[in-house]
Amino acid sequence: MKEYGLFINGEWKVTDEKIGVVSKATGSEVALISVAGEAEVKDAVDAAEKAFKTIHIEPYRRYEILMKASRILMEKQKQMAEFLVQEVGKPIKEAMAEVARAEQTLILSAEEAKRMTGEMVPLEGAPGCDNRWAFTMRIPVGVVCAITPFNFPLNLACHKIGPALAAGNAVVYKPATVTPLSAVLLCEIFAEAGLPDGYLNLLTGSGAKLGKLLTEEQRIGFYSFTGSPAVGKTLLQNAGFRRVALELGSNSANIVHHDADIKLTAGLCVKHAFANAGQVCISCQRVYVHRSAYKEFCDEAAIHTEKLVMGDPFDPATDIGPMISEAEAIRAEEWVNEAISQGARVLAGGKRRGTWFEPTILTDVQHGMNIVSMEAFAPVFSIVPYDEIEEAIDLVNASIYGLQAGVFTNSLAIARLCAMKIETGGVIFNDGATFRTDNMPYGGIKESGIGREGPQYAVKEMTEEKLIVFKF
Ligand code: SIN
Repeated sequence: MKEYGLFINGEWKVTDEKIGVVSKATGSEVALISVAGEAEVKDAVDAAEKAFKTIHIEPYRRYEILMKASRILMEKQKQMAEFLVQEVGKPIKEAMAEVARAEQTLILSAEEAKRMTGEMVPLEGAPGCDNRWAFTMRIPVGVVCAITPFNFPLNLACHKIGPALAAGNAVVYKPATVTPLSAVLLCEIFAEAGLPDGYLNLLTGSGAKLGKLLTEEQRIGFYSFTGSPAVGKTLLQNAGFRRVALELGSNSANIVHHDADIKLTAGLCVKHAFANAGQVCISCQRVYVHRSAYKEFCDEAAIHTEKLVMGDPFDPATDIGPMISEAEAIRAEEWVNEAISQGARVLAGGKRRGTWFEPTILTDVQHGMNIVSMEAFAPVFSIVPYDEIEEAIDLVNASIYGLQAGVFTNSLAIARLCAMKIETGGVIFNDGATFRTDNMPYGGIKESGIGREGPQYAVKEMTEEKLIVFKF
């Protein structure tokens, strides 16, 4: 069986302790990965700090390295996609799409390396500031810690590593415990692209243990984390005066007004609810449909769902692969059964088959049910009718989360009202809450997190604005 090591200061290091990487489709071990401990965390941060302090990479060179990495990634698209299928269980067509998105994220990051601009500050506009010039510069924070989730292990890593490197930082990278293979290949790609040793260091192993060690490490200047609110809160508490970007999930909602194209919208909601077996932070989890369109929407959603193929993620025809673990599938099953016991009806799916959970639609749900009010992170969504748009907006906002929401309408007045009143980091019209393209600002409010991803925005988060003043 293939064994993979840690990547520290440009070298692969295999440790004595290893854990198995499990194929989510078969449940069998496909590789072994080294487990990092306290010594390796220290070595990785030492290497990143030393690289940052001693090797200056000019912005044009950062651009070249990131562009080269994007090209090598596409040369290895098939190998990378196969790793993603194995370690996440996502269908091969979605895995190929994730690699293509990651290419774009690296290109967008490369472009930002050339745009690290500040601004002139017109000091002489204030009395007493004669003969002074001032401007700002953006200065890298030093060592960025990238902690990534299992659901998009490649693209979300590129969203952290790409901007960090573009801004001139060095990186310590900890992928989710269960998805280290794409991380190994990504580090190989950066090494091949010519990234100097120490600028990217990979720590794999126990997420909880490494997370604790990393948050205690004071030489890290910035944490970019995607994961659960509980871990996000701990990270925030430990960060002290250091900055963080936290992307912590959601129970995203769409409003479908009566003037929307109901058939089209139902198809989109189904697609957005079940991609990656619903394990997407902006997965369509709640749909509020105007009562006059409710029946048509439910019928169409059920028809679209019945057509989905659940099966082997390596099969190009598969739409729904396994969830990340049987434990997670059981948790989804429990939440669905709990909702049913409280009066919810199953419009489609509802059953678990091992690690697979059928694409499931619920109706007659109550707002307080876990499957509605908590982040489901499973292929399940609920449809709820509403009468007045204000009622739908209130339901969308009645959430501890606030990442993205979607509204389907042709009415400018309704769109304006929703844009003003919905409490999320983004409101997407006529495309659904799940829309994300990699150059947009992405992030939430409330327990969905702090800060924005998207290379242009992440570069700002990962740099300090420094003021320079000249007196003549
Ligand atoms: C996420 O689950 O936070 C990422 C969604 C995406 O990048 O499409």
